[in-house]
Amino acid sequence: MTREMPDAPHALDVFKEAMASLASGVAVVTALDPDSGPCGMTVTSIASYSASPPSVIVCVDESTRSYRGMTEGEYFAVHLLSEDQPDLARLFASKVDDKFEQCENTAGPHGLRLIANSLATLICRQSFVAKHGDHAMVIGIVEDGCVADRQPLVYWRREFSGRR
Ligand SMILES: Cc1cc2nc3c(=O)[nH]c(=O)nc-3n(C[C@H](O)[C@H](O)[C@H](O)COP(=O)(O)O)c2cc1C
Repeated sequence: MTREMPDAPHALDVFKEAMASLASGVAVVTALDPDSGPCGMTVTSIASYSASPPSVIVCVDESTRSYRGMTEGEYFAVHLLSEDQPDLARLFASKVDDKFEQCENTAGPHGLRLIANSLATLICRQSFVAKHGDHAMVIGIVEDGCVADRQPLVYWRREFSGRR
């Protein structure tokens, strides 16, 4: 293994393969776009940020339709998906216009749509946004939520390992 700085194309390739090799939990984040209303997308870039205050971090591509809702909205919801929700992950990773008409969801606080049957749901108040490259890191303080007795959906090497 070389310790020299790789050239840029190699760095991108090795980055993609290394990150594809990182097993991740999968979440759907939902938010409220100031103009178009409820929005939502699948993410694996979700992590615990701190316990004091209880906070999560999620990284959002500026090309997504959920970007404004996530970076400008006051609140967002995180749904950690359970093993039987790979189709939901695919739906929210797609560009269809009627995501919320194609899945079971309810009206939550602050105008957020909440996805049914998730492993865990967190209601977060957006508190910090930092832009870097073509993404924004969004930190939200957890204000409420619930956890169910379910198994997680895992994404590894471009495949979901959950049950259909
Ligand atoms: C497994 C998986 C994980 C993803 N993780 C992220 C992520 O962390 N951040 C991101 O911006 N997009 C991520 N995406 C891509 C978005 O889900 C995708 O761009 C989606 O179409 C955005 O929807 P929207 O444009 O309606 O907001 C992921 C896609 C998949 C399949």
